[in-house]
Amino acid sequence: MGNEKPVIAVIGGTGSQGSGLAKRWARAGYEVIIGSRDASRAQQAAEEISEMATAASSWGTVRGTDNLSAATESEIAVLAVPFANQLNTLEPIADALKGKILIDVTAPLVPPKVGTVQLPEAGSAVLAAQDMLGEDVTVVAAFQNIAAQHLNDLDHEIDCDVLVCGNKKSAREIAIELAGAAGMTGWHAGPLANAAAAEAMTSVLIFINRAHKIPGSGIRITGTPSETEE
Ligand SMILES: NC(=O)c1ccc[n+]([C@@H]2O[C@H](COP(=O)([O-])OP(=O)(O)OC[C@H]3O[C@@H](n4cnc5c(N)ncnc54)[C@H](OP(=O)(O)O)[C@@H]3O)[C@@H](O)[C@H]2O)c1
Repeated sequence: MGNEKPVIAVIGGTGSQGSGLAKRWARAGYEVIIGSRDASRAQQAAEEISEMATAASSWGTVRGTDNLSAATESEIAVLAVPFANQLNTLEPIADALKGKILIDVTAPLVPPKVGTVQLPEAGSAVLAAQDMLGEDVTVVAAFQNIAAQHLNDLDHEIDCDVLVCGNKKSAREIAIELAGAAGMTGWHAGPLANAAAAEAMTSVLIFINRAHKIPGSGIRITGTPSETEE
């Protein structure tokens, strides 16, 4: 990603997942723009994050605005809205995303059976987003398996890896760097088509959480060189 940290817009950054990611990237020194359908709600969310930053001067600035302005003013956009609103949130900001990377965290959960895998007709939520946005936008899937409560507790070490799927290696590398900045390990997990596995895994983890009374289960990639050398 070079020495300069890109400006990150979090579309839907007022919500659980988006605000957790925004906090962690701000703490890592990134400039973050919170996007919302309502600019004042985004400003409020940004203020709350900025207040957390007063103790540490290395935090990046956080501001809030409407989703379109956030997408326009960003270098990298992150989409964090419910599956039911994924495509209708992207449609009005599609032009502003041209030439950029969109990191989509959408898990295709269809209430009430959110613990049952229900992938959309396109094969996955991110494939549907890529189809709609066209090749001018580079869609990458990441963070589908990270529970928001872990992201939002900044003192908490996140015991879950991030599967990063995308058709361009350079774009996956950026998402992997952002996973690292937020305190997680990201893995090249293949082309965008492979995101179906990460999206399906979200429902599997929800089922495990319920069945075993775990607040936020996660996944780990094992067998890595550092482990096998030990
Ligand atoms: N929460 C988790 O633990 C978790 C874990 C893994 C993946 N995810 C995925 O991350 C995404 C966001 O999850 P979340 O829990 O953060 O969702 P959320 O808190 O329910 O919603 C996020 C934001 O989406 C916007 N939104 C809500 N309803 C909308 C609508 N009808 N139309 C357009 N925008 C709407 C809202 O922003 P404004 O009202 O400010 O516009 C809201 O703050 C989902 O796709 C989810 O599957 C979540």
